[in-house]
Amino acid sequence: MAEQDFSKKEKNYHADIPQKSEAFYLKGSNGYDWGMRNRLARIFNPKSGKTVMLAFDHGYFQGPTTGLERVDVTIRPLIPYADALMLTRGVLRSMIEPSVTNSVVMRASGGPSILKELSNEQIAVDMEDALRMNVSAVAVQVFIGGEYETQSVHNMTRLVDRGMRYGIPVLGVTAVGKDLVRDVRYISLATRILAELGAAIVKTYHVPGFEQVAAACPVPIVIAGGKKLPEREALQMARDAINQGASGVDMGRNIFQSDSPVAMIGAVRKVVHDSSSVKEAYQYYEEMKNRK
Ligand code: 5RP
Repeated sequence: MAEQDFSKKEKNYHADIPQKSEAFYLKGSNGYDWGMRNRLARIFNPKSGKTVMLAFDHGYFQGPTTGLERVDVTIRPLIPYADALMLTRGVLRSMIEPSVTNSVVMRASGGPSILKELSNEQIAVDMEDALRMNVSAVAVQVFIGGEYETQSVHNMTRLVDRGMRYGIPVLGVTAVGKDLVRDVRYISLATRILAELGAAIVKTYHVPGFEQVAAACPVPIVIAGGKKLPEREALQMARDAINQGASGVDMGRNIFQSDSPVAMIGAVRKVVHDSSSVKEAYQYYEEMKNRK
């Protein structure tokens, strides 16, 4: 039987304290339902408003990428340092412990390998399975200007519609085909299209003039690392991107192909979450790398 409230303590309605109603801290995300915002808050640290996503989904089109031959050996030690893990469902189920507390950003598009036309992707994960895996977002590649541009845009908009049903945000990734110039004009065009069509987060490359890209994109942008650079240069790129309006990084090769991946992801965290300068973060990298 339900118990009645027999407490002798006097009730206190705190009538003198107005109920707080604060705006959600992420740009462009205030209009979403609670579940969607909660998932975004699992990706973007509520204190800094930023994220360090660790991307290791490369195998979905290029097979055993250097540094990812054995995800269980090379990626597991990095997991405690990442806010979010960007990966495929195959790797999640086969190699990631279900006890991890990181948020999961699930690769949900695919199809062609590096041997074929990459823009010819389709949706590769059903939203119901994404829910079953308790993901915080799904990721889809969009090939603006590519051969299958419309198909890849349609993949994203269908995922956005399905994601809205369950409160799952979609991360739209601007994919740059081999014939497209990776410059501020192209990246502004692609990022804006993805945001306009419903991506809750956009992932793109850092280019000179990035502040214009970030300003014109109404939702949070995270930057990909791209090809492996010397560690100091990769930290500089992250620093510049954050200073110019990025909400974080979704970095892969510049972390897992580093001479010291644990030191590197720690240094990236310093830049993204602690406002460290490149000098401070690089010094941290060197110290951690040389620690026995
Ligand atoms: C493929 C992806 C990858 O996950 C990601 O961009 C690769 O990360 P990085 O460039 O930092 O190795 O989205 O397009």
